[in-house]
Amino acid sequence: MKKKTISFFLVMSVLLSGCQPFHFKMQNDEGPSAAAKDNDKTSSAAEDGIEMDDREDISVKDETRQASSESGLSLPSDNFNTVIEADGKRLIQNPDNIMALVNKEFTLPESYIPADLVRPSIPFSFGDQQEEKALLRNEAAMALEKLFREAGQAGIELFAVSGYRSYNRQHAIFEAEVEQKGQAKAVEAVANPGQSEHQTGLAIDISSRSNQLLLTQQFEMTLEGKWLKENAHKYGFILRYPKGKESVTGYKYEPWHFRYVGVEAAAVIFDGDLTLEEYFNIVEKI
Ligand code: DAL
Ligand code: ZN
Repeated sequence: MKKKTISFFLVMSVLLSGCQPFHFKMQNDEGPSAAAKDNDKTSSAAEDGIEMDDREDISVKDETRQASSESGLSLPSDNFNTVIEADGKRLIQNPDNIMALVNKEFTLPESYIPADLVRPSIPFSFGDQQEEKALLRNEAAMALEKLFREAGQAGIELFAVSGYRSYNRQHAIFEAEVEQKGQAKAVEAVANPGQSEHQTGLAIDISSRSNQLLLTQQFEMTLEGKWLKENAHKYGFILRYPKGKESVTGYKYEPWHFRYVGVEAAAVIFDGDLTLEEYFNIVEKI
């Protein structure tokens, strides 16, 4: 769908749902954000304060639903996080959800390991070595194979650097970063264990020979980084930590980190220049 069409539906959805402004502010240590509230709410209209007591309002609501559905701005309720509060954390109870929102606010259970991890047939920066970081969930792996294949046909040579990460490995990586850079810098770049998308098996870090197979911000200047930024959504992947959205995502710009969400959500997120947090702030639960 074209950007203009998406923008039209974004605007229409807001107008039809009572001119409520978007709340793009992300949580940090200040407490739950609008994203949190939206992502685990269990009913919509009444809790949103939308009056439903006359015919006109029902018809407006129907139009809103139709507009949001046609524009990809609605999602089944099981694509939203289900959470319980434990030890001061919001623990995700449905981590197999392809749309799982994992961030500084929503934490995966320590024991969570996706059941359908596979190794995609693509080049890895570490060659043929058997590593857990070569794994991805099946659906994401198939989509990534297609992305790599079609990138190759366009003359773009990519290398996967890091996919699935267990809770324990994320713990080790986080601790090493704290040791090297200190706590304050570490939390801007590396997720706490349980809060990394890599544990979902739906995230992949990608680099290129032109960037010495490194995960650095210079990747954005390479042909390969530019191609990914413009094309990844066609295969269901989003650039998860964009430049300029650090206060929303809670992380520094990562031009190498892509997250699988499926082609429909990826199109909406790309066309609207959204983060996953912002997407969940505007998408309707159906
Ligand atoms: N670098 C990303 C935020 C992670 O550690 O998952
Ligand atoms: Zn990553």
